[in-house]
Amino acid sequence: MALRIVAMSPPPGLVTLPWHLPLEQWKGDFLVGLPRGLSRHVVRFVRVGDQVYALKETGEPIAHREYRLLRDLRRINEPVVVPVGVVSGRSSPDGEPIEPVLVTRYLQHSMPYREIFSRGVRPETVPRLVDALVVLLARLHLAGFFWGDCSLSNTLFRRAAGEFAAYLVDAETGELHPRLSDGQRAHDLDTATGNVFAEILDLQAGGFLDETTDPYQLVDRLQSRYDDLWGELTGVEDFTTDEMWRIEQRIARLNDLGFDVDELDIVTDWDGSTVRIQPKYVEPGHHCRRLQSLTGMDLEDNQARRLLNDLNAYAAANGLQAEDPALVAHRWLIEVFEPVTALMPPELRTVMEPAEFFHEVLEHRWYLSEWRGEEVEIFESARDYLASKHEEHAEAAAVGPLTTGA
Ligand SMILES: Nc1ncnc2c1ncn2[C@@H]1O[C@H](COP(=O)(O)OP(=O)(O)OP(=O)(O)O)[C@@H](O)[C@H]1O
Ligand SMILES: [Mg+2]
Repeated sequence: MALRIVAMSPPPGLVTLPWHLPLEQWKGDFLVGLPRGLSRHVVRFVRVGDQVYALKETGEPIAHREYRLLRDLRRINEPVVVPVGVVSGRSSPDGEPIEPVLVTRYLQHSMPYREIFSRGVRPETVPRLVDALVVLLARLHLAGFFWGDCSLSNTLFRRAAGEFAAYLVDAETGELHPRLSDGQRAHDLDTATGNVFAEILDLQAGGFLDETTDPYQLVDRLQSRYDDLWGELTGVEDFTTDEMWRIEQRIARLNDLGFDVDELDIVTDWDGSTVRIQPKYVEPGHHCRRLQSLTGMDLEDNQARRLLNDLNAYAAANGLQAEDPALVAHRWLIEVFEPVTALMPPELRTVMEPAEFFHEVLEHRWYLSEWRGEEVEIFESARDYLASKHEEHAEAAAVGPLTTGA
């Protein structure tokens, strides 16, 4: 049987991988050892050119279906892993057929949840992971995507300025509809709470999470956070015409949650004394788009929010509020962001994004200023942060394997 690759723009090196062998038997320096979550299928990471890919061996119709779903979700800008293609028609030298492989681009700086826990987790980290999952699920539901198997293990997490950003990694059970019914959403949420409950118990049984974390409380949080967010994104609000400020307030709340309102439905009653509003189209990425338009940087929304705050503080400190925002942003990039992130040593760059480093430096400056009782300058904070990281690593190396708090 001939090897068949269905892909948008496959890297040339993909064709020459040892497709005649099951993934499990692959050997060679093109394999990359990276943490991965629990899975039924065999998943391996390979380096082709300067990019790392995740390969998942799976059944014939499923591989193509998942590829198309991921592609459709990417097209509408949903946070999912980037599909590259499907390799099918595989067979061993003696003609034994081998299952197709779904190829996705390795999601840079991402972590499966078990990896986060195996590094030691502060109790307040767990609700933040749940919150990130809630945002992902609500975003997918807004787009009409029924996940069918929402869980921590089917999600990848990236650090995002003190929060997490969640990405869908496993779309095998998903369906994309024009819109979801309340019943479909409730069903999806039910599956999510059941899966997360089991995953938390499993972490506790494995000694990754202390017994004080209450799984009931966490799934309650998942449910209530989801309901609150969905209500904010889609709910109807009634008020009288002397409370028109509530329109702006609703938009500001949505912006704060990271959404832009593309269309707001405003209806007044026949005598014009009451008003009813409902967001019709909201788009995620409010801060991300603003920062991108000013600087060209494409970041997680929460990282963008953090950087925009620093940019505003910079403009205020230098009396530049009245200037063209794009020019101020350019000055801030050249005078602050770029020189600060240039201080990152190469080994730190491989594990941390510059925007995340910048966030850590801002946090460090806050603590340092508190401690010294005076405002500490950002470059000094960056150097102090790097020195303390260096010390931490040296101490950890002296006592054994490195464990970092998440
Ligand atoms: N593009 C990617 N980037 C980073 N990690 C990935 C990627 N694709 C897969 N992985 C890793 O592989 C793991 C398994 O992938 P996936 O959930 O798709 O497999 P599965 O066998 O279908 O899972 P299940 O048992 O839920 O059916 C993920 O949890 C993730 O850690
Ligand atoms: Mg999975």
